[in-house]
Amino acid sequence: MIKYLSKGPDDTKEIGYRLGRLLQPGDVVGLYGELGTGKTIMVKGVARAFGIDEREIVSASFTIISGYDTIPPFIHIDLYRIEEPEEPELDALGLWEYIGGDCIAVIEWAEKAERWLPEDSIKVTFNPIGELIREITIEGIDEKDWNNL
Ligand SMILES: Nc1ncnc2c1ncn2[C@@H]1O[C@H](COP(=O)(O)OP(=O)(O)OP(=O)(O)O)[C@@H](O)[C@H]1O
Ligand SMILES: [Mg+2]
Repeated sequence: MIKYLSKGPDDTKEIGYRLGRLLQPGDVVGLYGELGTGKTIMVKGVARAFGIDEREIVSASFTIISGYDTIPPFIHIDLYRIEEPEEPELDALGLWEYIGGDCIAVIEWAEKAERWLPEDSIKVTFNPIGELIREITIEGIDEKDWNNL
C-alpha cells in the first residue's frame, strides 16, 4: 500500500499524474472518499498522463460517463448521482463496456459499484485531515514500480 499526505490540490494532481503514468490498458481505478475530498482533482492529474487538458475534467453534475479519445481511451466515471446502485442500473449505464477491455477507467464514488468492480482494481482512498490536508492511500499498485517512476 502506498500512502501520501497531500498538502494541497497540486500535490493531489501530482500523485494522480504519477499514478496515470503507471496505468495500462484495461486498468480500473476506484476513487473512494466523501464529498469534496479531492477525487476530481486527482482525475485531472491522472488525465494529464494521457495528454488530456485538466480543464476538460469536471465534476459530473449531469454526465456520469465521460470518454476521451486518447490511446488508450480514457474514461472518467462519476457514480455520485446513482442512489441505490443495483446491477441492472449499472448495466443500463453501459458501464461494463468501459471496464476492462482496452480502456483506462477511473471511477469516482467507486463504493457504489464496489461489488461489481474487478478484483484487481486499483483502489485510492481519500481521507480529509484538515482544510488542505488529505491522506491518500493507493492499493493495487506495485510499490517498486511506483518508486521507480
Ligand atoms: N490536498 C488536497 N487535495 C485535493 N483537493 C483539495 C486539497 N486541499 C483542498 N482541496 C480542495 O478540495 C476540493 C476537492 O474537490 P473535488 O471536486 O476534487 O472533490 P471530490 O472528491 O471530487 O468531490 P465530489 O464527491 O463532490 O465529486 C477542491 O475545492 C480543492 O481545492
Ligand atoms: Mg468529484
